[in-house]
Amino acid sequence: MALVTTKEMFKKAYDGGYAIGAFNVNNMEIVQGITEAAGELESPVILQVSKGARAYANHKYLVKMVEAAVEENPQIPIALHLDHGDTFELCKSCIDGGFTSVMIDASSKSFEDNIALTKQVVEYAHDHGVVVEAELGTLAGIEDEVVVEAGKEAYTRPEEVEEFVSRTGCDSLAIAIGTSHGAYKFTAAQCTRNAEGILVPPPLRFDVLEECIKRLPGFPIVLHGSSSVPQEFVKMVNQYGGNMPDAVGIPEEQLRKAATLAVCKINIDSDIRLAMTANIRKYFAEHPDHFDPRQYLKPARQAVKDMVAHKIVNVLGSDHKI
Ligand code: G3H
Ligand code: 13P
Ligand code: ZN
Repeated sequence: MALVTTKEMFKKAYDGGYAIGAFNVNNMEIVQGITEAAGELESPVILQVSKGARAYANHKYLVKMVEAAVEENPQIPIALHLDHGDTFELCKSCIDGGFTSVMIDASSKSFEDNIALTKQVVEYAHDHGVVVEAELGTLAGIEDEVVVEAGKEAYTRPEEVEEFVSRTGCDSLAIAIGTSHGAYKFTAAQCTRNAEGILVPPPLRFDVLEECIKRLPGFPIVLHGSSSVPQEFVKMVNQYGGNMPDAVGIPEEQLRKAATLAVCKINIDSDIRLAMTANIRKYFAEHPDHFDPRQYLKPARQAVKDMVAHKIVNVLGSDHKI
């Protein structure tokens, strides 16, 4: 199977009450870890590339690695998506350069400016057989170069979604319901603590999601900032020389619930970073004399694969859905 758009995968996910994982890729080990898990579990998957990933790894290398993964896993649908495109030019360059889906993130602009830029990208993308994700509302955390402080985020206003989708023609919509980017999604002041002293975040705003679904029946919704920041990885990082106090993510059961509703795409990047870093730290601590990158990247890649497999089965519900 060649690279696909997200059109059919979202339709099936919407109807089937599950979501597709959109995992950020920055190097070969990440591409392999994700697609080996998805391949073995017969799960559709989205590989997404940020502006930062392109700057780090080079557009051509990333596309070729993803094409190799498609050849190695012909049994599953794979989409290649631009994450948080912030200009028409960046979106165009990815559309011209082999991506099957792009996000134009003009969520920090005014409603009218967001519509105008999104519409411009949609027109170009649709002329080239590519689908477009747009965003309404702002998440806390870092969206590439746009940093939104905790407490300054704004939930999506459900009364705006219908007009936005009909005027832009976008194919999916990212909304803000309390998720946030990075490994420190909430401040201690926003949370309570459990018996072990781990932060417990405020629940997602399912009321906002439900209102959006009512106004956009059948339309695929996207959740960014959906890493769960597994505490086993945080503990490992801290045990082996790291320092990540109060790292906290979105509880998996809330994401599972969202996946059964209209949420068709769930974005995960920080959990990949954590899985790799925790395992590389452990490897270095246990093998201080080793210096062959293959030795420490192998368990890191395996950790990505195991983490993605867990998400596919227990959070997304996208296994055996090809
Ligand atoms: O939402 C942002 C993604 O985690 C990508 O992060 O811009 O550091 O590659 P990045
Ligand atoms: P996390 O930082 O929660 O992994 O979110 C990733 C994301 O939304 C990429 O667009
Ligand atoms: Zn994001």
